[in-house]
Amino acid sequence: MIGMSLPKDGLPAEQVLDEIRALRAADRPTHGGRLFAYVYDPGLDGLDELAMSAYALAAHVNGLDPTAFPSLLAMENTLVGAAATLLGGGPDTVGNVTSGGTESLMLAVKAARDGAPGVERPRMVVPVTGHAAFTKAAHYLGVALDLVPASPSTLRPAAEDVAAAIGPDTVLVACSAPAYAHGVVDPVAEIAAVASAAGVRCHVDACFGGWTLPYLRRLGVDVPPFDLSVPGVTSISVDLHKYAYTPKGVSVLLHRDAELRRPQYFAYAGWPGYTMVNPVISSTRSGGPIAAAYAVLRHIGDSGYLALASRTLEAVRSLALAVSGVEGLRLLAPLESTVVCFTADSFDVFVLADELAARGWHTQPQFAYGELPASIHLSVTASVAPRVAEFGPDLAAAAQAARAAGPVSLPSVSLDTPLPELLAALGFGAGLPDRMAPVNALLNAAPPEVREALLVDFLGHLQRPAL
Ligand SMILES: Cc1ncc(COP(=O)(O)O)c(C=O)c1O
Repeated sequence: MIGMSLPKDGLPAEQVLDEIRALRAADRPTHGGRLFAYVYDPGLDGLDELAMSAYALAAHVNGLDPTAFPSLLAMENTLVGAAATLLGGGPDTVGNVTSGGTESLMLAVKAARDGAPGVERPRMVVPVTGHAAFTKAAHYLGVALDLVPASPSTLRPAAEDVAAAIGPDTVLVACSAPAYAHGVVDPVAEIAAVASAAGVRCHVDACFGGWTLPYLRRLGVDVPPFDLSVPGVTSISVDLHKYAYTPKGVSVLLHRDAELRRPQYFAYAGWPGYTMVNPVISSTRSGGPIAAAYAVLRHIGDSGYLALASRTLEAVRSLALAVSGVEGLRLLAPLESTVVCFTADSFDVFVLADELAARGWHTQPQFAYGELPASIHLSVTASVAPRVAEFGPDLAAAAQAARAAGPVSLPSVSLDTPLPELLAALGFGAGLPDRMAPVNALLNAAPPEVREALLVDFLGHLQRPAL
């Protein structure tokens, strides 16, 4: 029975699966090409079943000790080899599978920090468009952050600004290919050159785009050099659980050579138990995600990924065309990868997101930042291609409704109202309110620190034991 966390006597298997099915009914649809964030869906029949069978074969295998489970080592090395081949790796390239983009970035930062033991107060240089996980890494690892601005028109940092931000304590320079918010690729070659000239490591965060950019290039898209083939790039990360379409929990972090990777490891022999040697943050880790990724990669294959990228590109172009066809909407960023990002000049973008959700399209609203207006982000996957013709008319209707509704008025509630009252005033009941625009408008108006604190309290409020 849901609500009784540990039943006195065990329940039949079918019953617990039914409970999960019932819980899953409230989730956003993970398949069907109408969700533009969180989930990467290739829309390939049978792929889920394959991944789950592979997952089950290795779920109990422990990555803690690859000598005890050589199957996992072999599969991990295969995934790393595939990523290295795709991303300009050479004969010296090495790498590891991590649990996701955030972990890959944290480990790139750890390797850079511990690779410069003489630097007492390490710092790293990151464009403001870099993923929030860099800030998290800086926070966890005690590395100070020097943020470099991005041009409000190109959404790219300038290599000269990166060069100016590098100082004697800089241990890492980071850039993105592409950055998540707008899908724009940073000038990697120029940034890597200034890092290299200063003798500093350069990490390319290709977590989002590393598995599509090489294929988009093969399809004729003008993709600038961004990978390990670029001199000065010392490491690169790519998430397989994004555009390699594997189940969640798999990213790859590559280093140009083993010496650069060495400080990524953590080893400890000074206790009475086993000597712990970990390449990644977790120690015990399931073989499930790695086996699932192994199966998915080898089943889709190079030609399969090319075909998926082609479908995605077609979807990106059609979605962008639909946006350009609606009066008052404007693409915020050029189409350089698999993101379509747009804003509304004459009506409320958060109301538009609600109107799209009411029509079954789940987009990701982004708050205003600096000179950039609030926007709608679409991470486009291959599964969108067959649905794309339905998007244009729905977008036009949603825009018309948003225009007619007018801007959302800020709820007359102060942000320091105690959380339960604040949530009630914003229409939160058992779940999210039907309309998120008032909440988004409030958060958009709040300074980032207030927004962070509020959302931490909100999550804390949700994350409580079900007894
Ligand atoms: C460019 C980029 N880097 C890092 C991450 C973090 O990845 P994860 O959510 O897998 O930790 C993301 C996630 O969207 C991303 O787009």
